[in-house]
Amino acid sequence: MLAFIGGTGLNQLPDFHVERIAEVQTPYQAAPVRIACGTLPGVSGQLCFLPRHGEGHTVPPHRINYRANIFALRESGVTAILAVNAVGGIHREMGPGVIAVPDQIIDYTSGRAHTFFDGELTDIDSPDRFTASVTHIDFTEPYTAILRELLLQSAKQSGVPVWSGGVYGATQGPRLESVAEVRRLQNDGCDMVGMTGMPEAALARELGLDYASVCLSVNWAAGLSDDVITMAGIREVLAQGMGQIHRLLITAAGLFREKG
Ligand code: HPA
Repeated sequence: MLAFIGGTGLNQLPDFHVERIAEVQTPYQAAPVRIACGTLPGVSGQLCFLPRHGEGHTVPPHRINYRANIFALRESGVTAILAVNAVGGIHREMGPGVIAVPDQIIDYTSGRAHTFFDGELTDIDSPDRFTASVTHIDFTEPYTAILRELLLQSAKQSGVPVWSGGVYGATQGPRLESVAEVRRLQNDGCDMVGMTGMPEAALARELGLDYASVCLSVNWAAGLSDDVITMAGIREVLAQGMGQIHRLLITAAGLFREKG
């Protein structure tokens, strides 16, 4: 089953007919993770939706319980995740309003619970749960190739222009970057910067879930334009860009069903 993880600007999926809210208990927090399960018009079968900042967009990037979210999605029978991330554009093609499907990540986050393989036995008893054994997942290609392809095909089919590829730099936030930090990201080869791409992608890989990301540039990264970055400016770009993201996701969901 396919799931969408919504980011800033995507706390709800328009046209998503919610049939039930699954409340999934995980070993990673006391409260259950609430996952909306339902259908999209013209797409057969169920899919899931999880807004990573919470239903009212109240959880900042560094406080998101990424482990609980990914674990709960797997518990719900999800096998593939399309994640939506708002980013600041660094590459000259990544100005506000541009949508990208990145193919690489650099992780600059710190202090986030970032692995299921923490060298601790968890207190849950199913046999394939995590043990104290040291496990190093392969992360050569952080995004699942077939899901990226699906997104690119969806872009073509729905007429949504998409930039294929690019390096996502994941920063800790919640503050934006300094000019020197953006210069460093640029020198490192980052094409866009966001606060939520990691550890989400790696956790999905740890649980064997397919994962790809759709990034909407909502501002030029700090120092790359004369404009001051404001939440109001970001909201404006989000409001304009989300229609295209919806089209892309709905078409992708249809293609996912077709391809089984
Ligand atoms: N930096 C980090 N994260 C972001 C930005 C940015 O400029 N814009 C949206 N998310």
